[in-house]
Amino acid sequence: MFEKLQAMPADAILKLIAEYASDGRADKIDLGVGVYRDESGATPVLQTVKKAERFLLETQDSKSYLGSGGSPAFNAAITDLIFGAGASNNPRITTLQTPGGSGSLRVAAGVVKRASPDAVILAGEPTWANHVPLLSSAGIDMQTFPFYDGKSHRIDFDRMLSAVEQAPAGSVLLLHGCCHNPTGMDLSDEQWRAMTDVVVRRSVVPFIDIAYQGFATGLDEDAYGVRHMLEVVPEMIVSGSCSKNFALYRDRVGSLSFVARDEATAQVLRSQANNIVRTMYSMPPDHGAATVSHILADPALRQEWQRELDGMRQRLGDMRALLGAALRDKAPAADFSHIERANGMFCFLGVTPEQVKKLKSDFGVYMVGSSRINVAGITSGNVGHLADSIAAVI
Ligand SMILES: Cc1ncc(COP(=O)(O)O)c(C=O)c1O
Repeated sequence: MFEKLQAMPADAILKLIAEYASDGRADKIDLGVGVYRDESGATPVLQTVKKAERFLLETQDSKSYLGSGGSPAFNAAITDLIFGAGASNNPRITTLQTPGGSGSLRVAAGVVKRASPDAVILAGEPTWANHVPLLSSAGIDMQTFPFYDGKSHRIDFDRMLSAVEQAPAGSVLLLHGCCHNPTGMDLSDEQWRAMTDVVVRRSVVPFIDIAYQGFATGLDEDAYGVRHMLEVVPEMIVSGSCSKNFALYRDRVGSLSFVARDEATAQVLRSQANNIVRTMYSMPPDHGAATVSHILADPALRQEWQRELDGMRQRLGDMRALLGAALRDKAPAADFSHIERANGMFCFLGVTPEQVKKLKSDFGVYMVGSSRINVAGITSGNVGHLADSIAAVI
């Protein structure tokens, strides 16, 4: 039976990784793959993760099953981290541990499909490349709303808002909590409030994907949108990820929270999500989540983790400033100021697909075709070559 299958087209980012790996140039630069990197180009295991893993090695006395929702300790800790201290006592919120943010998004889409089979999920244009395939694999119709204006390199908030104004009641609105991937452009607090008003008025259900909490301004500041909506909206879905802020990418740690009108509905949502998990992957992997909950529960370790997170955020900001300054110097006629206005790891460089190709072929500078760059790939050692290369192609 298998001979009838056709190979799937290669994933663009995996193709880029392979091309980069086989490029022999010593000064090649990888701005494609979406992981944090330090000044040496490494994606290290955090020191606090190492310490928590040592603790687990010494003290964990069972690897017995934990159930479809994962670890209650992790779920409480991550609920407080995302929604604010004490939120785990809020009976309207229920949280399940999931295999990364991706697992969370997929289970959430399954619950939406069961709750409202004809509901549409609205995603910004553009959004994370995997959002549409991942969410629509639950059988949900996806539509887009205008988000980014590529000319001004800003959020087109008026058009975004009016699209939500026109959305049918019961639509699900996918928003990025912070560090928008791929644009790096986030709603201001004022825009979050304006969006919340429309969401409530139009009976739209917000679905916030917060995969980079702590990478923009700080853990609390980055959760402003989630926390403001919690106060105002009757229902909401929130997908969290510890892939970036705990650098636990391959350990697959994420969370899915439902905010319901009341405790009884929250428990129904939990049972629906548990049932979907049971029939999909049965239960999430434990090790990464146990690591996170130990870090968050131990005050000293938690402080140390926040310093590690601050360090990652600081470096991303420093690299944006460094590239911005180098481009002002090497390409003074062009405006790249949006690079410094963006948050987190990503933004569009703002060059054409032909220029992206030329950067790769002539200068060994790798980025995805849309010109999305991961600023974590910049170092004080390669920024000169990067700015020279960009100046040469524009
Ligand atoms: C916007 C966004 N959401 C969710 C994810 C999922 O991350 P993971 O499944 O690795 O936790 C990513 C990863 O790149 C992302 O950029």
